[in-house]
Amino acid sequence: MVEQQQRETGWQLHEHTAEAYERHLVQVFMAQGAQILVELAGVGEGDRVLDVATGTGIVARTALPRTGTDGKVAAVDLNEGMLAVARRLSEGLEPAIEWRLGDAQNLPYPDAIFDVAICQQGLQFLPDRAKALGEIHRVLVPGGRLVLSMMRPPAHNPAYPILADVVDGYLEAGAGEVLRSPFADISTAELRELLTATGFQDVSIIHGIAPVRYDSAEEFARLEISSSPIADAVDALPDHTREAMFRDARQALDDFVDDQGITFPAAVYVAVTHR
Ligand SMILES: C[S@@+](CC[C@H](N)C(=O)[O-])C[C@H]1O[C@@H](n2cnc3c(N)ncnc32)[C@H](O)[C@@H]1O
Repeated sequence: MVEQQQRETGWQLHEHTAEAYERHLVQVFMAQGAQILVELAGVGEGDRVLDVATGTGIVARTALPRTGTDGKVAAVDLNEGMLAVARRLSEGLEPAIEWRLGDAQNLPYPDAIFDVAICQQGLQFLPDRAKALGEIHRVLVPGGRLVLSMMRPPAHNPAYPILADVVDGYLEAGAGEVLRSPFADISTAELRELLTATGFQDVSIIHGIAPVRYDSAEEFARLEISSSPIADAVDALPDHTREAMFRDARQALDDFVDDQGITFPAAVYVAVTHR
């Protein structure tokens, strides 16, 4: 059930989990990533920017101050819980961000109305990535820029698959798969081919590697799970089972533990291209 839902819709969170996502993942990773992507896209005065798979809206909020009063920021996501948090966090911002519920594979916008599209950690969740890229290409003006990021495969992000394996031992089939879903099994060459085949030009792919640190292995496991689609399933476990799972996670991740907590690399693709 968890797996089926994930396959069909990709990283779907209830609103309370979206709040945890904003507190944990956005503050730890996405805020910094958004700054980098907005910078790489060269977002400036007057630009019309689309944030694809916006989640709680960090890319849209980061782009907004750079577009000025002549520009515009629009953002789309499939998940109403994420958008509810995004709307709340952007209350009072001027000009207002245009939030829209919609599917990246069938964007709810006319052709050629954006100068910039940014998709931070969204493409890997889409069942039809080529279709989504085709849609982004369609809504960009000729010469319009696309910048996207996605996690590299599990081999480059060693701590996450270990946590997913532990979860597999405690939850129904597919729960670990949900935690593995951000780490797309796609090579640099395949990502380049996907973008080029869609018609994007001058594709530049960068491998970003950032050190991740938490106070303890257990804190990493708890925060990662609490801001993911399996948060409710883990909450529903009997206390002793849940505690045993976190104990196992602590042991399994021991190789990454040092005297200040736990640290490991997180590796992402960043692609910069234009229509
Ligand atoms: C890991 S979050 C990234 C959110 C945001 N870009 C950020 O930087 O925090 C992935 C997002 O992709 C969204 N998503 C998944 N499938 C989607 C689809 N088909 N169309 C639009 N958004 C989708 C999810 O709802 C979720 O908000």
